[in-house]
Amino acid sequence: MSEEQILRELSEILEEDMDYESGRILGSMCTKPHPLAVKVFQRTIEKNLGDPLLFPGALKIEREVIRMLGTLLHNPDAHGNIVTGGTEANIMAIRAARNMSGKKHGKIIVPESAHVSFDKAAELMGLKIIRVPLTEEYIVDLDKLNEYIDRETIAIVGIAGTTGLGVVDPIDKMAEIATDSKVYLHVDAAFGGLVLPFLEMLGYKVPIWDFRAEGVMSITVDPHKMGMAPIPAGGILFRSEEIMKHLYIKVPYLAGGAVNHATIVGTRSGASVIATWALFKHLGIKGYMEVIRRCMKLTEFLASEIERTPGAQLVRKPIMNIVGIKFDSADPGIVDRKLRERGWALGNFGSFLRVVIMPHIRKEHLVEFVGDLREILENL
Ligand SMILES: Cc1ncc(COP(=O)(O)O)c(C=O)c1O
Repeated sequence: MSEEQILRELSEILEEDMDYESGRILGSMCTKPHPLAVKVFQRTIEKNLGDPLLFPGALKIEREVIRMLGTLLHNPDAHGNIVTGGTEANIMAIRAARNMSGKKHGKIIVPESAHVSFDKAAELMGLKIIRVPLTEEYIVDLDKLNEYIDRETIAIVGIAGTTGLGVVDPIDKMAEIATDSKVYLHVDAAFGGLVLPFLEMLGYKVPIWDFRAEGVMSITVDPHKMGMAPIPAGGILFRSEEIMKHLYIKVPYLAGGAVNHATIVGTRSGASVIATWALFKHLGIKGYMEVIRRCMKLTEFLASEIERTPGAQLVRKPIMNIVGIKFDSADPGIVDRKLRERGWALGNFGSFLRVVIMPHIRKEHLVEFVGDLREILENL
């Protein structure tokens, strides 16, 4: 096939895909990458950070990205990698905890609200996973957590920005528990890690959740979510290199020379790391504060519209740009299906539907969405 034919066929096939620009993707934590990131990504597409000594410049940039993220999360000495996503980051954290513990078997304790990546981590490493019930506030129940910790426990996990509702577990209290029980504490801030620091700067009340809480050993924070970086750009930060060293496996044969890999994957995108660097430098603290300010304004708008929608309710007042919607009598599965028939894509969490107010969403999208939702609920 000629290049022209291929491009034509591709655009026909990809016609089926949804796009962020339409404003119809309301339930994803991803967004359209920032144009500067796209430009930088295209220019640096051949960089492979799996063979970093071939690309020392790219490696330097990855270290700078980690330093910038570490500084934002109050630990400029953090070590880590930009990886394929929050899933790989969480798997790396659990692997570090498992290796540090010296135990082959054991268990990890996560809140009921934890992302499925912890199930993947547990299955891959043959660990038991215990899910702790949540309180009425949808945060981890600390008393139950305390009860579950025993000699088999390899790690406990707190979430700063849960997948379903964006709530933040009491990380400072969890850090005390972890320190007292001598277990590893990992914080999954895959989404919230690039929201909470800016909310705090904007004057919102934000509890201590990052490296300021001693006892936090590692944090997941993904640039390809609220950072607007191109996929794949997840992030894992360890409090120190001492912790990260537990992951090192030597790769001797590389063209650039032998290195230690901490990541699960070998060959990995340098372009997304460099694009992330470019965005951090370009937008800076002020730029991201503005993005978050705008997303929160729209979140507050949607929340108030939901409160004024007969038959619908907020699951809880939003903490960040995530809105959980539940229904008085309607089945969320049916509402979800009806919304899909009208072209909307939300997240279905069983008892509620989730909207994530990402940077691609504008007020007119939300006005249209609320109109459709009200019509659906009236006609059920
Ligand atoms: C809290 C949290 N952790 C981890 C992940 C996994 O991230 P990824 O899909 O980039 O692997 C998600 C994804 O939504 C998430 O919400």
